[in-house]
Amino acid sequence: MSQKIRRKTFIFTIIILSVYILILSLNFEMAKNKGMLPLLFLFVGIGFEIIRIHSPFVKNTKVDFSGGMIIYIISAYILNPFYASLVAAISAITPKIHLIRKIPSIKYIFNFSQIGIATFVASYIMSKINSLTLSVISGIAIYLLLNHAFVSAVLTFETQESFFSNIKKLFLFLLPNLLFIFPSTLIILVLYKYIGFISFPLSIGLLISVQAGIYYRKLYEESKIESMIALLKSLEERDNYTYTHSKQVSEYSYKIAKKLGLKEPHCERIKTAALFHDIGKIGISDHILNKPGTLSDREFEIIKKHPVKSWELLKTIKRFEKHEALWVKFHHERMDGKGYPEGLRGNEIPLESRIIAVADIYDALTTDRPYRKALTPTEAIELMKNLAGKAVDSKIFSVFVNALKEEGKI
Ligand SMILES: [Fe+2]
Repeated sequence: MSQKIRRKTFIFTIIILSVYILILSLNFEMAKNKGMLPLLFLFVGIGFEIIRIHSPFVKNTKVDFSGGMIIYIISAYILNPFYASLVAAISAITPKIHLIRKIPSIKYIFNFSQIGIATFVASYIMSKINSLTLSVISGIAIYLLLNHAFVSAVLTFETQESFFSNIKKLFLFLLPNLLFIFPSTLIILVLYKYIGFISFPLSIGLLISVQAGIYYRKLYEESKIESMIALLKSLEERDNYTYTHSKQVSEYSYKIAKKLGLKEPHCERIKTAALFHDIGKIGISDHILNKPGTLSDREFEIIKKHPVKSWELLKTIKRFEKHEALWVKFHHERMDGKGYPEGLRGNEIPLESRIIAVADIYDALTTDRPYRKALTPTEAIELMKNLAGKAVDSKIFSVFVNALKEEGKI
């Protein structure tokens, strides 16, 4: 079966390579329009392929995008379709060519041909449009449409997922980056129109410094999250329950969020928030955290401060400030309003906090604690039935019970 899939990809690559060669041969007269410009763009294009674009609209530093597309569209506007397509096709594969032994060479032929065709068509259409903005919008749209159609076709051969689900995934990944790529491309071209070639080093320098700013700000955020994880792990040294518990609550919360039909990015955010729900326990002394017997009123008052402490810690991370920090703050609220820290009731409690609460209580019950042995999943669910509607949200609880049943755990 997989042999057949690879053969399809191979045949498809040969077809698009032939189409690209045919396009270049039919338009060979464009090659006579020589000059140093294509070479210059090629040089810059290769450089931009190495630069990773960090869009301010993408929160994760790990999601980045090659800056090459900015240069492809600029080339498509300034050069003729023949040279623009060669600049894009060569730029796209050159920085990665050293990997040729690790990745099948057919992949490079595929990328060379599909990027060449996409840029040729984009450049041709752009040359027919007078307005700069419209021309850039059409250029980007045509380039992406063709590029994504080619890539999705190959993904369909390789993964057997449907063509449209592949194309949708690619667009969802690209969209936030596009919000950065489009204005950058347009600004560079507007500057070019008014001040000529000096606009390139100026705007590219500016773009790189803006990029560096965005990148390092995000890196700083990431490092804060990493230190938060280190903090959570250090809790394990003192209280070997909290870290394992946090990881499990995080997994259960994700499972519930999925079963509730929430979108994947939302589920991921709930998972992260749940991981840090008890991080505020870092400030509580060991004798209270690990006390085998019942807590005194004063000790319990101290324990009750941890959701607020977790909130205070999490809101120092900008991307957690508005949502995750608050979800964590309210994970000990109860549906009947008898919870803490604010005594919110019912739907006043964020849905995400209600999800974490169900996961939290279930995991606490099914884990050994200093003051009691772990309950079995069935015993825990039986006990939690008394809490449904009072402490925990009954709908979320029944979704969780169904998930456990499906897994055969109860
Ligand atoms: Fe807690």
